[in-house]
Amino acid sequence: MEQMRRTVTCGALRGADAGRAVILNGWVHRKRDHGGISFVNVRDRYGITQVTVDTAASPDLAPVTAELRSEFCVAVEGLVRPRPEAMVNPSMPTGEIEVAASKIVILNPSEVLPFPVDDYQEAKEELRLKYRYLDLRSPGMQHRIRLRNEAAFAAREWMTGQDFYEIETPTFIKSTPEGARDYLVPSRLYPGKFYALPQSPQLYKQLLMVAGFDRYFQIARCYRDEDARGDRQPEFTQIDIEMSFVNREDVLVMTEGLMGHIFRKCLGLELPPRFTRLSYEEALERYGSDKPDLRFGLELQDFSPWAEAGEFGAFKEALAQGEAARSAALARGVSIPGGAVKALVVPAALMTAPYSRKQIEELEAHAKIYRVKGLAWMRVQAGGLEGGAAKFFAGQAEDICRGLGAGPGDLILMAADSRRRTANVALGAVRSKLGRDLGLTGTPPGTPSGDEGWDAWVRRRAEQRFEFAWIIDFPLFEFNEEEGHWEAAHHMFSSPQEQYHAVLEQDPGAVKGDLYDLVLNGYELASGSIRIHDGELQKRIFSIVGIPPEEAEAKFGFLTEAFKFGAPPHGGIAPGLDRLVMLMAGESSIKEVIAFPKDSFAKNPMDASPSGASAGQLAELHLSVLYPEAAPGTTPGSKEAP
Ligand code: AMO
Repeated sequence: MEQMRRTVTCGALRGADAGRAVILNGWVHRKRDHGGISFVNVRDRYGITQVTVDTAASPDLAPVTAELRSEFCVAVEGLVRPRPEAMVNPSMPTGEIEVAASKIVILNPSEVLPFPVDDYQEAKEELRLKYRYLDLRSPGMQHRIRLRNEAAFAAREWMTGQDFYEIETPTFIKSTPEGARDYLVPSRLYPGKFYALPQSPQLYKQLLMVAGFDRYFQIARCYRDEDARGDRQPEFTQIDIEMSFVNREDVLVMTEGLMGHIFRKCLGLELPPRFTRLSYEEALERYGSDKPDLRFGLELQDFSPWAEAGEFGAFKEALAQGEAARSAALARGVSIPGGAVKALVVPAALMTAPYSRKQIEELEAHAKIYRVKGLAWMRVQAGGLEGGAAKFFAGQAEDICRGLGAGPGDLILMAADSRRRTANVALGAVRSKLGRDLGLTGTPPGTPSGDEGWDAWVRRRAEQRFEFAWIIDFPLFEFNEEEGHWEAAHHMFSSPQEQYHAVLEQDPGAVKGDLYDLVLNGYELASGSIRIHDGELQKRIFSIVGIPPEEAEAKFGFLTEAFKFGAPPHGGIAPGLDRLVMLMAGESSIKEVIAFPKDSFAKNPMDASPSGASAGQLAELHLSVLYPEAAPGTTPGSKEAP
């Protein structure tokens, strides 16, 4: 087969190129026949160019043109010419010209596709993942993978410019506790021993600080055996960062600079130089979430004073139970916050019509997922309150409306619980749902329309709102009620804030950590902390979270050992690259920005992984498999690999 090497890409030609002889290589995106003349759109990763084949004038091109089908890989030789005025397509970067074909060579035909490449949204996810290499040909995927590349490049550019070294850390390691299950790799040389794949490079980046590489970053693969969700994959990527001789402020300012650079380079957007900061407590009280979406208000307000004075039994009971639990805990030396009744006002102006009972029931069902018993409501009328719980607050109507800032037509929603956090989180979930339902988060930019090029695609992404916020002052410990012990809220290597160092053991629930999360549009984008660099303090933390000294020594001895040799004060952060690019791209699943993601069941429909291992492989690894009873596709009780 004759090879015709391309002289231009399919996204390059403009009006000024008229008259040039060119060769294009690419795929047949679309073909339209108009008796004697055919239009073949040829696509590559740079764009789409319209090729015109005048089979009436050049009958020798007729047979090959007739053969062309979608996704045939072709080479086209021809002359660039301006399109007739009526056919100029301003929404297509190459829309001013066409290439009049003089020669067409089929480099490789294509079978009929399982789904059309330019219309991937219609295809089922399973099919898209099975034929991912075809799905990746779609303009949308091509743009998103390009954006990912540009974001990663911008990150490297910024970090390198700020004197950071990119250093690789191993992927076969001893377990790093980030709160998920490890993926294990059996050792052939050491029967019964396993490496773990890193849940993050956490311990290694800290060791790099001990080693004197005071500014480290790595675009790092992380592996966590947890259920996949829209914003979670078992295998994902972090822009992992660690710095020595820094305080929290230094890490936050550096990260703001990094985000600013990425958004400027990739979307041409100027972010505010400093991001909003909210304490964890404030975030929960005002938004019912430690990753609030700040693109809209609808803030939570405290309804407890009116609940106490009012007649609503369920509210009064929640508060009384909360108070009893708080006193009992205090007697044990543990601070917990007690109960709360929280309210949220939905202004009439945001609703096209007053919410129906059915709509309110839907909100209630949503709230209940977060473990409150119900969602109370009432409507503001010109002369007072009506509907739902209004009868319990008749005497306080005016005061309530003034206090909450509610006016006629507004809907007041209320959630109560003996645990303050539960009331906040449930109403926060209602707030998020309202944000979506009422369109307060803006319209997503959606998929590329037709032949939209990269620049227009980026412009539409840049029209989105991006609301960053730092959440700071997290509690260092959380009480695991099911197992009855304290555990690290972030990970065990995060430092308590200085003022709590002396009193850690007395009241772990009151200790605030030097922890911070970066939140964007309701997603946790990054997490980090100032670390412990003192072996003794590290041992106290292990002890509070119930890790016996022998276990701590066996698991993390290498880290505490390293701290004995002049470990510098250090801290860091890790933005998730997948989530960052997903939000920039205006998508709601990180699968849309990962070339080869796993499906929701941690499987890859394309290569059918995970798959069985041969008896020989298992023997070499000193493994035998115990199948769960009646697992699908296996013989119950069978101990052999399929
Ligand atoms: P953390 O576990 O919070 O912190 O992770 C940091 C960021 O990584 C992203 N992320 C994920 N993205 C996709 N799929 C997942 N399963 C997933 N899990 C986490 C999120 C998250 O904010 N070692 C610490 C960081 C540090 O302290 O420096 C860590 O890994 O965007």
